[in-house]
Amino acid sequence: MKAGSSVTVRPVQHVSGGLRLPGDKSISHRYAMLGSLAEGKSRFENYSTGADCASTLACMRQLGVKWERTDERANVIEIEGHGLSLSAPTNPLDCGNSGSTMRMLSGILAGQDFTSEMFGDESLSRRPMARIMKPLGEMGAKITAAEGERPPLRITGGHLKPIHYKMPVASAQVKSCLLFAGLFTDGETCVEEPLRTRDHGEVALRAFGAQISRDRNRVSIKGGQRLKAVEASIPGDISSAAFFLCAASLFPESNLVVDSLLLNPTRAVLLDVLTALGARVRMVQVEEQHGELVGTVALEAGPLGGVSLAGAQSAALIDEIPVLAAIAPYTRDGLVVHDARELRVKESDRIAAVAKNLRAMGAKVTEHEDGLTVPGRQQLHGTEIDSEHDHRIAMAFAVAALKAEGDTVIHGADAAQISFPEFFQMLEGMLER
Ligand code: S3P
Repeated sequence: MKAGSSVTVRPVQHVSGGLRLPGDKSISHRYAMLGSLAEGKSRFENYSTGADCASTLACMRQLGVKWERTDERANVIEIEGHGLSLSAPTNPLDCGNSGSTMRMLSGILAGQDFTSEMFGDESLSRRPMARIMKPLGEMGAKITAAEGERPPLRITGGHLKPIHYKMPVASAQVKSCLLFAGLFTDGETCVEEPLRTRDHGEVALRAFGAQISRDRNRVSIKGGQRLKAVEASIPGDISSAAFFLCAASLFPESNLVVDSLLLNPTRAVLLDVLTALGARVRMVQVEEQHGELVGTVALEAGPLGGVSLAGAQSAALIDEIPVLAAIAPYTRDGLVVHDARELRVKESDRIAAVAKNLRAMGAKVTEHEDGLTVPGRQQLHGTEIDSEHDHRIAMAFAVAALKAEGDTVIHGADAAQISFPEFFQMLEGMLER
């Protein structure tokens, strides 16, 4: 393997060792936003090292929030809370590649007494924003966007009206956006989700002192609550761990231990799927930190069968499906995915990107409108892979390459910077050839 935008991955014998990963991306975004709105100084250890979470921090600085990185090695961020009222930015806010930044920050900007603009890179500029524009509009914010309700967004905020909103798509970003907006109302905002999505918004709001209630698929928040600063260590990102867990599952000799890992049940479905596939997965030293489950995961590989994903499971695994698809050819019975239409509007069209790159490596794949079928018992061969500037595609195919015949070149490998800049270096440290 070598650094740079193109990385060559050679086949290996097994993937073993111990790991501790940078902080979870979903939690880091939310802590940065809520720490900005809180009263007092928050301190976060193991903040995500990805460019996406840096985009959130940069936006918060433009909104008058003072923060500093006080320890580069431990990734410590200290934020001086600004309270619920932020300062008007003098320039448009750059969200980079980060849909989470744009969608969740919209909920906060909708409650501010000023007009602000947000823009993103080419990929983010193609992503749908109607999902937040509609409910925030009902709450009273004025939001305009480019054609097709795509970024850039211009938001004129103010005091908001509480709403009861039934989300048409299962999206944790939208749920968090609306719960954050709910803080700027005089009543109770209720968000109803069609399927259970990750609950870090609710858990983080509680950690910062807000009261939230849940009744089955409905989450409610009362407006006007003040947030209190938090000191926390952010658990390791399980969506980043997914690449190592899937890689280790491919080789019978592998033995992997990941500690301080996020094990929130809305995020840890991958562990159930790997177990169902045939890996031996153990969780030890599980504890709760600020409402989030954290623990150590040990994985030993075993012969891999097959699995079908649909409904709530597909929604819960939305970020892990690319890497599951990338290891599927090496299983006995393959992978079938349905109800994952959302993958088409991620950083790339991930269904198309996975199918195209698997075919380039010699696999048979059937693409569905809402997923894909990857038969098992297929040997992949090394080739040239296009990441499509999508971090999860770059890393998923580095994993597929570990068991391929011959070398694989991943073009656009630097996309990994978005969520996991250390990925290729850490992977190199775990490989046995
Ligand atoms: C995220 C939710 C998911 C996920 C994204 C992060 C979050 O997106 O794909 O990587 O932190 O809430 P959707 O809310 O669009 O499903």
